Amino acid sequence: MNETSAVPTAPLRARAEIDLGALRANVRVLRARAEGAHLMAVVKSDAYGHGAVPCARAALEAGATWLGTATPEEALALRAAGLPGRIMCWLWVPGGPWRQAIEADLDVAVSGMWALREVGDAAREAGRPARVQLKADTGLGRNGCQPEDWPELVGAALEAEAAGLIKVTGLWSHFACADEPGHPSIAAQLTRFREMVAYAEERGVEPEVRHIANSPATLTLPETHFDLVRTGIAMYGISPSPELGTPADFGLRPVMTLSASLALVKGVPGGHGVSYGHHYVTSGETTLGLVPLGYADGIPRHASDGGPVLIDGKLRTVAGRVAMDQFVVDLGGDEPRPGTRAVLFGPGDGGEPTAEDWAQVCGTIAYEIVTRIGTRVPRVHVNG
Ligand SMILES: Cc1ncc(COP(=O)(O)O)c(C=O)c1O
Repeated sequence: MNETSAVPTAPLRARAEIDLGALRANVRVLRARAEGAHLMAVVKSDAYGHGAVPCARAALEAGATWLGTATPEEALALRAAGLPGRIMCWLWVPGGPWRQAIEADLDVAVSGMWALREVGDAAREAGRPARVQLKADTGLGRNGCQPEDWPELVGAALEAEAAGLIKVTGLWSHFACADEPGHPSIAAQLTRFREMVAYAEERGVEPEVRHIANSPATLTLPETHFDLVRTGIAMYGISPSPELGTPADFGLRPVMTLSASLALVKGVPGGHGVSYGHHYVTSGETTLGLVPLGYADGIPRHASDGGPVLIDGKLRTVAGRVAMDQFVVDLGGDEPRPGTRAVLFGPGDGGEPTAEDWAQVCGTIAYEIVTRIGTRVPRVHVNG
């Protein structure tokens, strides 16, 4: 997990500044959107690249009452770091660390019979019940229990509960297309979710929380909030999809600012090839700036010849290929000093590009841009 205590010189090369004040403000905005529901701060994958432990702490300070991760290892790491309260994790494989999860007081997701059997066995060994959240596949077609298999899973969960092996703490699901306004699958999934919840409750399941909403649903579909919303990307100040609106439209502010110090500035003649493959050739005499970040740091190679960078108040673009550790920008004759800060993305209100801008250039989503920033880039947490 990235921490702020990287080698002292590293922030000079590049840094991802994480504005915990912005994160806390975003959590408050999201809580106001989902009044009456608990907010689960989704901090999987090192908090989408922002640093799991400090972001989890900041989210709790701002009123989140649950933390969510994909893997049990991520959840156990949060607990080991001293994070209190409810922590849920949902991506298990056979043999997963069930017993450690039970002993660490995690809420574990169960999508099928094999997992229910394993968690029950682990609870028997641990001598205490596991907190289990049954996941319904209401149409995403990924993890979760199919409607046809739901009666068997619910029945077995009730038996395990009666035997004192588990407590069913939640019934939950996940949307496929909540970021596409009006997509017919949204209403279909919601209907299916209500039916599957009703089935379980009629048979005696008493969940503490029922939940299906991710960031786009939290922001735009109040009827999906139920008892809890699970927000990831919006908490980091990024809109789930430009189609839904900008972060500012929702009162959100991007949390991560990625920057680097120019490693070299030099004059070159016209006709000079730049970087591997010479896909960029200078059109005349110019200056080139070397940015010491590459695809090993998570700068997508698809940003070659297009990724935007703010240097000395001017927007520049990646010239030629992004290499493993560095890329070049054409400075058009300007001569900023080596060491000048190049801002790849940030909140956007200082003229710098945003992670969404990089996503557009690379044909991907902003989730991927921030999450893939590599471990070689120190996260510097500010406004803690
Ligand atoms: C099960 C689950 N819930 C919630 C989220 C949070 O989604 P978002 O980042 O769109 O809020 C994710 C992330 O993909 C997820 O896998």
